[in-house]
Parts: sequence; C-alpha cells; structure tokens
Amino acid sequence: MCGIVGYIGSQNAADLIYEGLKRLEYRGYDSAGIAVLNDNKINLVRSVGKLKNLNEKLIRKPMPGVVGIGHTRWATHGEPSEKNAHPHLDCHDQIVIIHNGIVENYLELKTELINSGHTFRSETDSEVIVHLIEEAWQKRNQDSLISATGQALLRLEGAHAIIIQSVLVPDRILAVRIGNAGGIAIGKGENEMFLASDIPAILPHTRTIVFLESMEIAAIRQDGFSCYSLHGEPRSKEYFQIPWDPVSAARGHYSHFMQKEIYEQPLSLTDTLRNRLNLDHNEIVFKHFSFSMQELQKIQRIMIVACGTSYYAGLVGKYILESLSQIPVEVDYGSEFRYRNPLIGPETLVLALSQSGETVDTLAALEEAQKKKTPLAAIVNVPGSQISRICQGIIFMHAGPEIGVASTKAFTSTLVDLFLLGFYLGHQRGFLKPEMRKNLLQKLVRLPKIASDVLAKDAIYKELASQFYEASDFLFLGRGINYPIALEGAHKLKEISYIHAEGCPAGEMKHGINALIDRHLPVVAIATQEKLYQKMLSNIQQVKARDGIIIAIVSDDKGEVGQFADYCIEVPNLHPLLNPVLNIIPLQLLAYYVALKRGCDIDQPRNLAKSVTVE
Ligand code: F6R
Repeated sequence: MCGIVGYIGSQNAADLIYEGLKRLEYRGYDSAGIAVLNDNKINLVRSVGKLKNLNEKLIRKPMPGVVGIGHTRWATHGEPSEKNAHPHLDCHDQIVIIHNGIVENYLELKTELINSGHTFRSETDSEVIVHLIEEAWQKRNQDSLISATGQALLRLEGAHAIIIQSVLVPDRILAVRIGNAGGIAIGKGENEMFLASDIPAILPHTRTIVFLESMEIAAIRQDGFSCYSLHGEPRSKEYFQIPWDPVSAARGHYSHFMQKEIYEQPLSLTDTLRNRLNLDHNEIVFKHFSFSMQELQKIQRIMIVACGTSYYAGLVGKYILESLSQIPVEVDYGSEFRYRNPLIGPETLVLALSQSGETVDTLAALEEAQKKKTPLAAIVNVPGSQISRICQGIIFMHAGPEIGVASTKAFTSTLVDLFLLGFYLGHQRGFLKPEMRKNLLQKLVRLPKIASDVLAKDAIYKELASQFYEASDFLFLGRGINYPIALEGAHKLKEISYIHAEGCPAGEMKHGINALIDRHLPVVAIATQEKLYQKMLSNIQQVKARDGIIIAIVSDDKGEVGQFADYCIEVPNLHPLLNPVLNIIPLQLLAYYVALKRGCDIDQPRNLAKSVTVE
C-alpha cells in the first residue's frame, strides 16, 4: 500500500527519493511527501494527488540536502490532504517520520499525548508515532535517540514500518519494523545507503539488500548500518544480492507495465524453469525447498493459503498437485483461514502462494499454521520478502519484478511452480514413474514457446475488446481445472476495466446463473480440455439457446463448439495440467484491451494496491 523511500549519501536526496517514489507509483496512493534535512533544519514538501504535483512544488522550491525520506500515502485515518500526507513532524520540528501500517491504539495514545501538552497537526493515526518519540526523548535518562525510539515504539499496537529522521542525529536515518506492515529493505551503495518499502524503488542504485525483521530498529549511516532489537540488543544482519536487474523494472517501449508483463511471459516462464529441470534424469531440482525425504513422506494433506489472483492459482494448483503427487489438497483464502481455527497439524503441509510475499492475510494464515506446528512452504516472487523468510520450503518464481497492480506473469509462473512442486512430490513419493516423468517434462519445456504463439494472436484479442468494451457485465465459464481460469479471467477484467464480471463452473449455470443470460451478455467459455469437452459443448448450447454471445477459448481443433460460438480463440493443446497457463493469456489480453478502450488507469486501478499489507 503506502510506499517508503529513504536516502543518505552525497547526492541530492529529494531528487533520488522522488525518483524512487515514482517507481513505487504502482502501489497506489492518494498523496505524497518528502522531508530533507539541511543546515540542521527539516524541510518538508507534501501534496495531494499524483506525484507530479509534488514535483511541481520541488521545481518551484528545490530542497537541497543529502539525507531524506519520502512517502506515498494511501489514506486510512483522515482524508487525503496536504496536512494528512506524510512525513509528520513533532511539536518542535526536530523529528520527522513516515509510516506504513495502522496504529490500532492511536486514540488512547493521542489523548495521552495531548494531555501531556503535544499539539497534533493532522488527523492521522501515524502522527502519534512522532509525538511518542518526542515524549520519550524529552523524558530520556542517558538514552540515545535510538534507544528512546525503540522504547517508545514498543507501545504501538498493530503492524508498522516506520522511518525516522531527526536534527538530533543528522547523520542517521532510523528504520523500525513491527509485525507485518510490509517490508523495509536497506540497500547499500558506494558510500551511500537507500531505504525502501519495495525493492524496485532502489533497484537502479543497488542490488545489495538486507531486510529488517519484526521488532528491529536500524540506524542507517552513509557507510552502513547498525541493527538492534527494540529493547536495544545488537543484531547482526547480512546483505544478499537481489537477482533482478533495473531494466526488468522499467516499462521499456510498452504503454503499460501490465502489457509488458503479459508479453514477457515466455521469458518469465523460461526463468521459472531455468536451472530446475534435470532432463537427463527426468528430475526437478529445487534449491530452497529444504524438506528431507522423511518429512515429505509424512505429508498427508496440502493446505494452500493465498489471496486474490494467487488464490485462483491455488485452485488450479489443487488439480495439478493432486494429479501429480496424489496428495489431497485444500485451498483457502488467507483472510478466512486465519480466523477459522483450521483442523491441521504436523501431517499437513501449509503452502502459501504470494507474488509480493508480504500480503498480510497470507502471512497471518502462515502464523496461524505455525502455531499448529505444520510444516510451512511458499511459492513467492519477491526475494527476501517476509513470507520467504518464515517458510522452511521456498520456491521462488523468478518471474522478475511485477509492477502492474493486476497480476499476470506471476500468476502463470505460480502455475508452473505448482506443476514443478507436484512433479517433485510425485517423484519423491514414488508415484511418478520414469516414463510419465519424461513425458511431462517434454511437454513442460515447450511451454514458453507455445505461450509466445498465443501472444502472437494479439490482433484477435484487440478486435474482440473493441466489440465488447461497452458491455456492462461479462460471464466466464469453465469446468475442472479451467474453472479457476474462468474466475481469474473475470477477476482481471473487473480489476482493470471496472466491468462487472463473474466466473462460474459451467455445470452450475442451471442452478441460478442462467437467469442472467440474454442477448447483451458476452459469455467467455473455456472449452479446451478433451475430458470435459462434451460437457462444455452442452453448456455453450444452453447459453446460445438463451441468446447469449459466446466467445469460446478452444484447442487447435475447435470441433463442434465452432458451430455454436460467435467467436473462437484457438489455443494450442499442450497437456491438461499445463493448458491453464496458456488459456489465461487471451483473457489477460482481453481485459487489457477492454480497459484500454475504456480509458482506465491500467497500471493503477482505482481502490487497489499491489502489496496489501493492511487487513
Ligand atoms: C490481482 C492481484 C491481487 C493479488 C492479491 C495477492 O491481480 O494482484 O488480487 O493477487 O492481493 O497478492 P500476493 O500474490 O502478492 O499475495
């Protein structure tokens, strides 16, 4: 949600921070601000709306200085306004903070601070943080600002990422993480240091990164940093190298990040497979999936937890994992699982799916599972993210940075990773025999090339979009493994075009959905797989009998569906467990072109954020 950037070095901090915030625009925000320390004074600039408003102010009144912090805000407490935008100052303009998260006990703290004489200038919950630090500093004993801050912030309830700057320690920036309100990445440059909520913000400057853990405070200097627990015990931390390059986080010649990310799927899928296939022995190799053979044998059930698009990937994963590993799979939303006292124990592998690795509901679901002593695994895209740090078994997607709010390439990489995992478990547990493994891997290696063939039919998706972009509703139908693809197709369209869309298992139509069908309703029917082809055909006939408009996703040989469908999109038939990766591509592009025709803000759809770090 909110974005954080910080800089300490010898370059102009405001310029670097502004650039970093620009690279975080995809997270969604309604106001922004920057604070820079210069001549022992904190200078602030804040504005409502897009970052260009902030930039205009910076051009009118440049802010010199080499130490600064910046924030893009997504309003929770208090409307989007200049006074509510971060950074927030204390009463004496000596300390300034930016904050991600929600101070759950802010009313109680605010009353207490007002009674002690503090004056508040905003309606935000975040402002209590700076006054708490100020209060602790005023009442300090021998404490440094770092230990006073650590003590003060122990009083906050909720999850927080906080960056602090002060004239009291002009050569330091302090960073605090409490719980899971998104990450804080500290990046090391050449005698300069960077801070960010998300790696793409600082990727052009450094790939040497370390993340703060919960209940840690870091004091960042120009030449490095020191880390402590909030209680003051020193913590040692090690940098690691992020394998992403800055070009992968840039839009290049594409009009939108989402378009770029859809088109780079042949590449991202190749990267997902890279170094994982041993074709000589028909094996899958995982680097970070550190479960012993004995531990794998003990697994009796897999419980997938995820949110949004990752949840739909999980529903596809149920088919893949059950088929390849013969282990029963359940799938639940992180937000439901965490509150339902699930009946799980050490025999259940809890598998989180998350592009960002920071989604608060998915993290909370893992924490819930941890209490029940289940083994934890995850498929995650962002290296170093919180989810990747708490699980024993990690499969990184290697899809590269995904910037567009609507997830596309991370979805297809998750499906491929689920396939790899199913294969791995099926092999380790003795279910997948050599011939089956060989056959599966031969299909798998062809996937990226076939994905590029599907993308090459771009003109068809564009033409369809121009016919249906004014529709008020869409229906997506699928069966079996393609039912979740129907759900994800509807999800993509809703997210970026704001057209109401529903995904439905085709066999369920007669139980209610049929009432929606009329001559205005475009119905996207996924009719590719052989086994359920006849069933889909009869569902398509039922829609036609009610005058609905059929856009069918079919295999190369469209068969009888071709006679009933108004439009057919042909997708190659690779393997029933891999076809969903191909079938979603036309639906991603349909959503993209419909949203484009409707003039929507594709990379930053209204009311949505890339990383959902609040509940
Ligand atoms: C959809 C989308 C969201 C995310 C969801 C989970 O296009 O982007 O629905 O899928 O917020 O995010 P991750 O995968 O980061 O946990």
